[in-house]
Amino acid sequence: MTVSEVRKRYLEFFKARGHVIIPSAPIVPEGDPTTLFTSSGMQPLLPYFLGKDHPEGKRIADSQPCFRAADIEEVGDNRHTTFFEMLGNWSFGDYFKKEQLAWFYEFLTKELGIESKRLWITCFAGDDSLGLPKDEESARVWQKLGIPPERISFYGPEKNWWSRSGQPGQMPAGEPGGPDSEVFYDFQTLHDAKFGATCHPNCDCGRFVEIGNSVFMQYLKLDPSIHSGQAAFGPLPKRSVDFGGGLERITAARASNPDIFLIDVFHDARKTLEQRSGKRYGEDGRETKSFRIILDHIRAAAFMLASGIRPASLEAGYVLRRLIRRAIRHADALGIKGGVLAEAAHGCSTTYSDAYPMMQESAATIRDELTKEEEKFRRTLAQGLREFEKMKTIDAFALFTTYGFPLELTKEIARERGLSVDHDAFLKQMEAHQAKSRAGAAGKFTGGLADHAEQTIRYHTAHHLLLAALRQVLGKDVHQRGSNITTERLRIDFSYGSKMTPEQIAHVEKIVNKKIAEALPVVRTVMPREEAEKLGAEHEFGVKYPEQVSVYSVGPLKDAFSIEFCGGPHVENTAEIGSVRDPDGTVRKGVLKFKIVKEEAVAAGVRRIKAVLE
Ligand code: ALA
Repeated sequence: MTVSEVRKRYLEFFKARGHVIIPSAPIVPEGDPTTLFTSSGMQPLLPYFLGKDHPEGKRIADSQPCFRAADIEEVGDNRHTTFFEMLGNWSFGDYFKKEQLAWFYEFLTKELGIESKRLWITCFAGDDSLGLPKDEESARVWQKLGIPPERISFYGPEKNWWSRSGQPGQMPAGEPGGPDSEVFYDFQTLHDAKFGATCHPNCDCGRFVEIGNSVFMQYLKLDPSIHSGQAAFGPLPKRSVDFGGGLERITAARASNPDIFLIDVFHDARKTLEQRSGKRYGEDGRETKSFRIILDHIRAAAFMLASGIRPASLEAGYVLRRLIRRAIRHADALGIKGGVLAEAAHGCSTTYSDAYPMMQESAATIRDELTKEEEKFRRTLAQGLREFEKMKTIDAFALFTTYGFPLELTKEIARERGLSVDHDAFLKQMEAHQAKSRAGAAGKFTGGLADHAEQTIRYHTAHHLLLAALRQVLGKDVHQRGSNITTERLRIDFSYGSKMTPEQIAHVEKIVNKKIAEALPVVRTVMPREEAEKLGAEHEFGVKYPEQVSVYSVGPLKDAFSIEFCGGPHVENTAEIGSVRDPDGTVRKGVLKFKIVKEEAVAAGVRRIKAVLE
């Protein structure tokens, strides 16, 4: 069975069980400044776990292209990829454990004909310290379906808990999460003792491969600063199911072949690499690893290019560049001379054209961009590698700046030669080199604020003033949809249907500057959520807040110009926003003016403003 066929059968199976099939979201999330890539099927659906009604109803399914940069180091074994498709089905306050587990089991065993005896199950063991109970219910459902107790094991939150941010302790307040039940396929390969004395479903030897994960979303992380002394979790408004299954892995399980790089979607690229290198996939361990890295990275790169990302030195574009460069290095290691990536990636456009027409439409772009980037890097690669051999201690910074070697590439080459790289020294040098751009990129990983520098905090309060001014000028339907704030500028995404006129922009600027000049106090109050809602406090779209919330108001609470649910930090008085601090520490007020430098569309009904203080 091909990947296409498994995808089609899955979607039809869930459609027949009352699910609406929705189009997948872009691999680069829209209007979400907290992350660079879509890394799970549930990510674009977050608001619906928090109580918002999905326009298509309570039962939804799709197949979502995902990218997980964190797995980059794992690629090379039989089952890890950075890019993959996640089959997903969701119940938003509808069915729960019994139906979910039975359907997935039926899909695997009846629809795909996978043998039940190859399936191993894990369930949540509970965690007393977090007040989370053991998931006996899921285990009972599995037993009823015919899985014997010896193939059902229980693990703690490190294995059987899922939230977008990971472990319970890493979850920010307001995020949903819950216990999960994973299904592993037993490829019945031999256990390698280097992974431990005995083999088990979560063993890393490659015998067991996780093919699906049913998350039972039923908890909401509470804010410890507000709920001190209380439980870390509260109930979610609607108990929901978030299922994710690796399409490529399920296809490999269907074929009972433990190497996912042998499924159809990699076939053409593998053949091209074999032809060009004169080597055979699977013959030599080290070479096979290189084959797999190239196969994974070029497929991910092709999807990114078709989604509009281009190789660059920052953010998503830099991740793309790293993938391409690492793939080139491994093509070089296989002895392939001259450009090969465009040729090897060509198959992706046709293989995926049925489910993702953009892959076909972007075939020329994928080819041209890969060719360009490969030509560029190959010009310095050989020289960089020669330099590498000469270095007594590895100067990762020089390899980066002169030869374009991303850090992990240098580390990988060093590791192969038994050398190590001074990571901290590299970071320090980079910091000095890229202080500015780093602030922008960091914002992508830490939420709205890039850091807590004095200037970033000023921008944060200016951001509140701006939102209030936009609502005053454009109407009360304007709400925040995303934000990103650095020491250099602020950015806000907000709901509004048309381009702002120059008059509206000037009006908004004028209001914000007036409020800065009025030197209004900025006050934080902790209050019950309901009370804050009554006061009309603005809150982030899709976030479910705890019982007690922190609210920032500009001006006294009862007569505030702006009032928002917010954790801070902020300036104490709006006058600070227009101030500058001289090198000797003196603060001069009223120097900086608030200015909108850009107003543009980011999605249907969502506008973006960039503004500065200058
Ligand atoms: N969101 C769940 C996962 O990524 C299904 O495993």
